[in-house]
Amino acid sequence: MGKKHFLCHVSDIEPNSMKEFKVNDEVILVVNQNNKLRAVSGICTHRSFHLARGILRENSIVCTLHLSEFDLDTGKPNNPPATAPLKVYNLIIDGNDVYITL
Ligand code: FES
Repeated sequence: MGKKHFLCHVSDIEPNSMKEFKVNDEVILVVNQNNKLRAVSGICTHRSFHLARGILRENSIVCTLHLSEFDLDTGKPNNPPATAPLKVYNLIIDGNDVYITL
């Protein structure tokens, strides 16, 4: 298991919104959908667009630059032009504190 880093408070991320964080050199996108928090890499694997500027869908995020859509559970692209998956991170929720393991 990787090292645990404090990210934010649960209340920092409104339901059905997302927020970008930088830990060490990794850009991380934390998504709150229906009060469930998930984290994936925040940079599109196609041309490095910041997905915090993308569109949140039911269970995916759409990169607004060339419209690749990534599954938030697996990180895999559902459509081209992206072919490589986003990294999926493990979050630890402890009360109102959100930690990530890297
Ligand atoms: S940069 Fe995201 S699809 Fe091209």
